[in-house]
Amino acid sequence: MACGIVGVVTRSGALRRRLGLIIRDSLKRLEYRGYDSVGFAIITAEGKLVVRKSKGMIDKVSRKLGFDEVDGLVGIGHTRWATHGVPSDVNAHPHTDCVGTIAVVHNGIIENYEELRDMLVRRGHRFVSNTDTEVVPHLMEEFKRSGLSTYEAFRRSVELLEGAYALAVIDVSTPDRIYFARGTSPLVIGIGDGFNFIASDIPAFLEYTRKILVLHDGELGYVTASRIHLERRSGDSWAPVDFSGRVRLVEWTVEMAMKGGYPHFMLKEIHEQPNAVASTLAGLEDQVGAVVDALVKAENIILVGAGTSYHASRLGALLLSNVAGKMASAIISSEASWHLKPVGEGDVVIAVSQSGETIDTLLAVREAKERGATTIALSNVVDSAIPRESDLAIYTRAGPEIGVAATKTFTTQVAVLAYLALRVAERLGSLGRGRVAEMIADLRRLPEVIASIIAIHEARARRVASRMVSCANAFYLGRGYALPIAMEGALKLKEIAYVHAEAYPAGESKHGPIALIEEGFPVVFTALGSHDGRLLRSNIEEMRARLAWTLAVAPATLQEVLRAVDVSFRMPPLTEAAAAVAYIVPHQLIAYYTAVRKGLDPDKPRNLAKTVTVV
Ligand code: M6R
Repeated sequence: MACGIVGVVTRSGALRRRLGLIIRDSLKRLEYRGYDSVGFAIITAEGKLVVRKSKGMIDKVSRKLGFDEVDGLVGIGHTRWATHGVPSDVNAHPHTDCVGTIAVVHNGIIENYEELRDMLVRRGHRFVSNTDTEVVPHLMEEFKRSGLSTYEAFRRSVELLEGAYALAVIDVSTPDRIYFARGTSPLVIGIGDGFNFIASDIPAFLEYTRKILVLHDGELGYVTASRIHLERRSGDSWAPVDFSGRVRLVEWTVEMAMKGGYPHFMLKEIHEQPNAVASTLAGLEDQVGAVVDALVKAENIILVGAGTSYHASRLGALLLSNVAGKMASAIISSEASWHLKPVGEGDVVIAVSQSGETIDTLLAVREAKERGATTIALSNVVDSAIPRESDLAIYTRAGPEIGVAATKTFTTQVAVLAYLALRVAERLGSLGRGRVAEMIADLRRLPEVIASIIAIHEARARRVASRMVSCANAFYLGRGYALPIAMEGALKLKEIAYVHAEAYPAGESKHGPIALIEEGFPVVFTALGSHDGRLLRSNIEEMRARLAWTLAVAPATLQEVLRAVDVSFRMPPLTEAAAAVAYIVPHQLIAYYTAVRKGLDPDKPRNLAKTVTVV
């Protein structure tokens, strides 16, 4: 799904640390992408290929196998999220050819690997793993045997691959370079003075350089310590790519990609939300002109997203419908093809994806484009695949999000969508001018409001967590805008604290789910405004009558809700656009502290990876 790969090539002395240590640290920064096994391959000064790899997480494996002791001038590393082959020592990357001179790391899935492996086995190649990746070194070995150079063998091998891949390859016969190729899965070069990195994501090399070149789909080439060679297919051959205009400096700093004194990235990122929302809103006005024009003209607006980004999409659709008066709906990306058939010219599809790389969302963008819709990307990663392939792009400025659970990217996504809805409402006159101004002013207050929510409610969330740890299940209920927030709260609790949490429209809860309620069953209500109050009160009473443990996140003005529950999170009353951003915060904190109380690592939930580049 989403492994992390890294490669470093340096001239002697340029990086002043052992290569094994550099690769270990870089992999640590990519650990959010997968962490069931880890490994590296380094070509030593004596020209020997040293491969160290094992099942398990980086710190443990690195200590066990002595990653830091190995040195050389070129190496590649990998942290894995298993797709083909269980997590095990042999399935860990890098993978090598029969004679152990070529080493390959890969993120993605090679769909035709069985066919390729059968062909290679017939030609005498010995496979040792169950992975799809292992076909690559054997293919290269095969082509080299026929007389091709390593680079030609690499290109020919890549031509045969179907599926998604980001590849980094080293070969002892060319110890001054790393070969790379990008087919859908992300890959970026970090350009240094006397060294170059290649990696799945920027934090891998942020400590050494902020100068980057994001590779485009279909590009391949190699890096040496002082040179980048890039090609893409042009007709039947490969043509060099002039990338000089694409090199840029990222704003992200090393500190942003480190824990900064917090025990976990997730907690740090929850606390970063005031700043993340402030920077995002500050940078918005310059970006939104063409997007607002497109939305004003749109017949239908469809938002697509996965997981947390889907929840943000639902809030965006509600805001566009209710505030701006546009026909808008949200679809889960992996289901999009069932819903996009009637979409065409005149319609707008907004693809929401913090990473900009989620394959389900990317495929939805491609389909929408094919059908003639205008596509708009909302992402946190400049130049990532989804913004690049969309007609228009708009960016959140949340900084790198390392915790697997999305937090600050959610609040910043919703802030952008709320702002867009208000700008559209203003243009269309769907709300009175005064109301738009009031709602925008509320959005601008969000940084201080979120900071105060964290300050006031963190201790309460910790207390709730101390009871939540003994619960196997939970319901999250809400109506209207509160429903996507309930869905996001439930997702947080289930993905990092492994509590089975289900979100439902509050009014629907009596049509089935209520059968599960028994004494102490947690039911977490969310309400945004006064219109929710009376109706929600009935739903709370229904749960209380069955001895549920009831909690509510609701504005301080909603006394009928807050007084009716066992635990109340009194929120500052806000207009709906700002409340849609801020009211998730107590849910994030409850999930975080529940995971921690259970002794789990919230940054690395089992079976998950941050960026999902497989369907
Ligand atoms: O990068 P994206 O926003 O496209 O990722 C989509 C989902 O995989 C993501 O939101 C996932 O649900 C979160 N990590 C959950 O916290």
